[in-house]
Amino acid sequence: MSTPLSSTTPIRHFLTVDDLQPDELLAVLDLADDLKAQRPRPGRGPVSDFGTALAGHSIALIFEKSSTRTRVSFEVGVRELGGHPLVLNRDQLQLGRGETVADTAKVLSRYVHAIVLRTFGQDRLETLAEAGSVPVVNALSDLAHPCQAVADLQTIREYKGGLSGLKLAYVGDGNNVAHSLLKAGAMMGMHVAVATPPGYAPDAQVVDEAIELADPSDGRITITTDPVQAVEDADVLYTDVWASMGQEAEAAERAAVFAGYQLNTASLDLARPDAIVMHCLPAHRGEEITEEVLEGDASVVFTQAENRLHAQKALLLTLLGRA
Ligand code: CP
Ligand code: NVA
Repeated sequence: MSTPLSSTTPIRHFLTVDDLQPDELLAVLDLADDLKAQRPRPGRGPVSDFGTALAGHSIALIFEKSSTRTRVSFEVGVRELGGHPLVLNRDQLQLGRGETVADTAKVLSRYVHAIVLRTFGQDRLETLAEAGSVPVVNALSDLAHPCQAVADLQTIREYKGGLSGLKLAYVGDGNNVAHSLLKAGAMMGMHVAVATPPGYAPDAQVVDEAIELADPSDGRITITTDPVQAVEDADVLYTDVWASMGQEAEAAERAAVFAGYQLNTASLDLARPDAIVMHCLPAHRGEEITEEVLEGDASVVFTQAENRLHAQKALLLTLLGRA
């Protein structure tokens, strides 16, 4: 009988950041640091394949929304681990012509060793995971951006030397990025304070789950409409676009509602003197963050973007049992 490729190993999915236990998340961060330390830097000679950990592994990278960082970092990362990345845009697949997610999952599971998907509804990722027989990774959905959160934790550790006890202030829309930060920060014992305009708070169920995750780690969650309360004494200031992919029609209305929820020099003045500034990118300068702050000394946004590569390599090795 023919069997899917991964039938002999337990399947680990990464659809939300708490699909990893806190100790597993810490191990991924340690591995990401090791991978970063080992990698030759661009500009100092070719960055050629130096790993064979994923030799013989093909990984499908499916994008139903635009992407620069996620797409390129996964493609380069899989290649650097000796694997074969297949970047597939929705309109290149029968998925774009109405083939079901479940049938796509069953078919791809016969060819590839893991599927990375960027999509709209979280239900599409869940269906892919249920119907397929290989690990599924959420490369961003309307609900969550867990790969971003892993890279964000790696970045915070890099600059702050640890995570537990730090205050992260997220100011802006209670969106996918905020959801994953809430959970990831809670798992690591951080105080995550989210300030949004009324009506744009994070999903109530995600907040409840984050509060539960914060309990064993002595983390803390604050949800407020007051950006000053959030940023006061923060170690990390974080923001994201006011209108996410799929919300383009609301952009003008949101720009008015979110005007008081910008990261600017006044926010930095309220934060701790050594606070760092983060943004998942792409940024809309002059909207959720000023040019001055995005390009200022406190900003770590491009290291944060780089760390997507290292964090996702560590994640794939872990999920595929190659760590
Ligand atoms: N931060 C992030 O996921 O960027 P992309 O949309 O470019 O992948
Ligand atoms: N919240 C943004 C993140 C982009 C990386 C979006 O979903 O468009």
